[in-house]
Amino acid sequence: MLIKPPSDIRPSEITPESVYLNRRQFIASGLGVVAGGVASSLLPSASIAAAGDGLRATAPSDMARAAPAAWWGSKFEAIKPVDTAGGFYTSESLTPYRDVISYNNFYEFGTDKGDPIANSGDLKADPWSIAIEGEVEKPGVYTLEDILKPHDLEERIYRLRCVERWSMVIPWVGFPLADLIKRFQPTSKAKYVEFLTLHDPQSMPGQRSRFTTIEWPYREGLRMDEAMNPLTLLAVGVYGNYLPPQNGAPIRLVVPWKYGFKSIKSIVKIRFTENEPATSWNMLAPEEYGFYANVNPSVHHPRWRQDMETRLPQTLLSSSRSPTLLFNGYADQVASMYMGMDLAKLY
Ligand code: MTE
Repeated sequence: MLIKPPSDIRPSEITPESVYLNRRQFIASGLGVVAGGVASSLLPSASIAAAGDGLRATAPSDMARAAPAAWWGSKFEAIKPVDTAGGFYTSESLTPYRDVISYNNFYEFGTDKGDPIANSGDLKADPWSIAIEGEVEKPGVYTLEDILKPHDLEERIYRLRCVERWSMVIPWVGFPLADLIKRFQPTSKAKYVEFLTLHDPQSMPGQRSRFTTIEWPYREGLRMDEAMNPLTLLAVGVYGNYLPPQNGAPIRLVVPWKYGFKSIKSIVKIRFTENEPATSWNMLAPEEYGFYANVNPSVHHPRWRQDMETRLPQTLLSSSRSPTLLFNGYADQVASMYMGMDLAKLY
């Protein structure tokens, strides 16, 4: 397949100024979300304001909760500004905070877009731990604090493209998955990384639904080189604030060149494997959802053509449809990983 550079990011769009969040002020005012749903009707739109040496993107100030632990809050005081090079940043308009946290796919809380914000109030994101298993020198169960301790948090502004043909632009807070993987020292047999979401039917009503089609827990996977790619992010925040439950609190994956279903939420297990791991949507409908799930305008889902997408929010007065970009516009950063592969077969 011919691989073209992204056509939507012109050099003139990349600001030389740093883009940052005015977090000290934000955190100092006692804001933060880590668990508990928030009624969307209470939420004003996010503010995106030009400020001094760059842009400032902050969540609305009247919707958040106090951080659960001092170490967690202090991590958020020192978020590094987005690096405008290397695909970590797009200057496209941010999707308003209200939409990012109220229009979600998180089947553990229901199948409608409004279900996750409405039904995720019982998710306990603190305390949290992650089991590291499989082909690694340092397996074990690590607390979230252990996981995060050595990592600086940084901001990334990524496009998110869902296989359902909608897209958003989201300012995430997190750190490269590669940096975490290195700490656990994968063995030479580790060719893939598998991720599992929390399985807790008590707090996740979608998991106790009689009509559920997914075999829980939700699972996803990446090839090792994809997991180590600098774009692959473990996110713990959005809009300079803690991840709300509906967005995958307290820690989730963000893989911006793949369809959104690869970006697994609320991770409790990371397993290093020799063989390609089974993944939830592929298990459910292999002819519709592949393991790779790279955004590709010329490989169509049986029910959805993929050459166009709609940028949310959509209103009665405006609809923003645009051509879908190969690898969601991140070809410069990722295309070399797929050289020689037939992307129509390995979809
Ligand atoms: N992770 C889990 N555990 N369960 C899910 O249902 N949905 C996926 C992905 N991660 C999902 C998940 C899909 S289909 C998408 S498009 C993105 O999450 C949506 O992320 P967002 O709700 O933060 O926009």
